[in-house]
Amino acid sequence: MAPEKQRTVVVTGASSGIGASCVRYLEKKGFHVYASVRKRADADAITALGSSRLEPLLLDVADAESIAKAAQTVSAALNGEGLAGLVNNAGVAFDVPLECVDMGTLRQQLEVNAIAPVAVTQAFLPLLRRERGRVVNVSSINGRVASPFSGPYCMSKFALEAFTDCLRQELADWQMHVAVIEPGSIDTAMWDKGREYDWSAVASKHDLDLYADGYQAYRKFSDKIASQAIPCDAVSQAVFHALTAKRPRTRYLVGTDARVYARLAQICPDRVLDWVGRKVMGLGSTRSSPKV
Ligand SMILES: NC(=O)c1ccc[n+]([C@@H]2O[C@H](COP(=O)([O-])OP(=O)(O)OC[C@H]3O[C@@H](n4cnc5c(N)ncnc54)[C@H](OP(=O)(O)O)[C@@H]3O)[C@@H](O)[C@H]2O)c1
Repeated sequence: MAPEKQRTVVVTGASSGIGASCVRYLEKKGFHVYASVRKRADADAITALGSSRLEPLLLDVADAESIAKAAQTVSAALNGEGLAGLVNNAGVAFDVPLECVDMGTLRQQLEVNAIAPVAVTQAFLPLLRRERGRVVNVSSINGRVASPFSGPYCMSKFALEAFTDCLRQELADWQMHVAVIEPGSIDTAMWDKGREYDWSAVASKHDLDLYADGYQAYRKFSDKIASQAIPCDAVSQAVFHALTAKRPRTRYLVGTDARVYARLAQICPDRVLDWVGRKVMGLGSTRSSPKV
């Protein structure tokens, strides 16, 4: 009997957190996995895991040249075979009031979380087509429900959801499935990285007068949900299902918090949802704007 053909997937943002967890999970399930990382040291750490089914792939998803090079590397290694899946997971998060966000930060946020998945998918689609491969985009519950002070992140994830929905319909003719994963709070380094980017440390006095109280309340709330975060495995399982199930879902809510917020967003009018959000975050009452 001929040996079962090994199926290959690419996972972006595999240096830590959800990406690293997905890579290990998929490798254990028998996939040949290209784990995409930005730094040589992270590539070496993947090689050091010592699995013949795991290969590091240097890729900065915000760099067109890097994307083209990574796609060429995988294409050459596959030698005429195709890709079974692409997991667009790499992401960053900047929490800052929208009135104060500088355009460089906003562009970076949108570039990595929303534009890069399009660019990476375009680059790998010729290989995916050969196998009727699947695309799985790691979004967030913030791709469905927006919250104050994480506006740039929410904008990027809403865009990623739209990308997923459009691509799913455009690839339907070829029966190529596209899914989106919508986790709630997951225990990864993203929370610490978010704390490192402290808008209030660089904000002007004018901006602080407007938003410092709300921002501090948001950060306190953010610390609380980070402390209740669940392990990455739940996301890896959802990704695996999206890549392999006979009848994959179009969207996967991961975590009780994500399911509760999604349900509330379905049943509550906007203003009721805003009120609930402000209460939960401990945001204060309305006030008048200062004279400028
Ligand atoms: N943690 C949560 O609660 C949560 C909830 C919902 C959704 N998510 C989503 O899950 C995904 C993974 O995040 P995580 O929580 O696992 O955080 P994480 O541990 O910080 O992982 C983020 C990954 O993205 C990579 N990355 C960032 N910018 C990149 C770039 N320009 N090119 C290539 N890779 C880049 C990072 O690589 P470096 O190490 O090189 O920076 C890292 O591997 C993100 O899309 C995030 O929005 C997370």
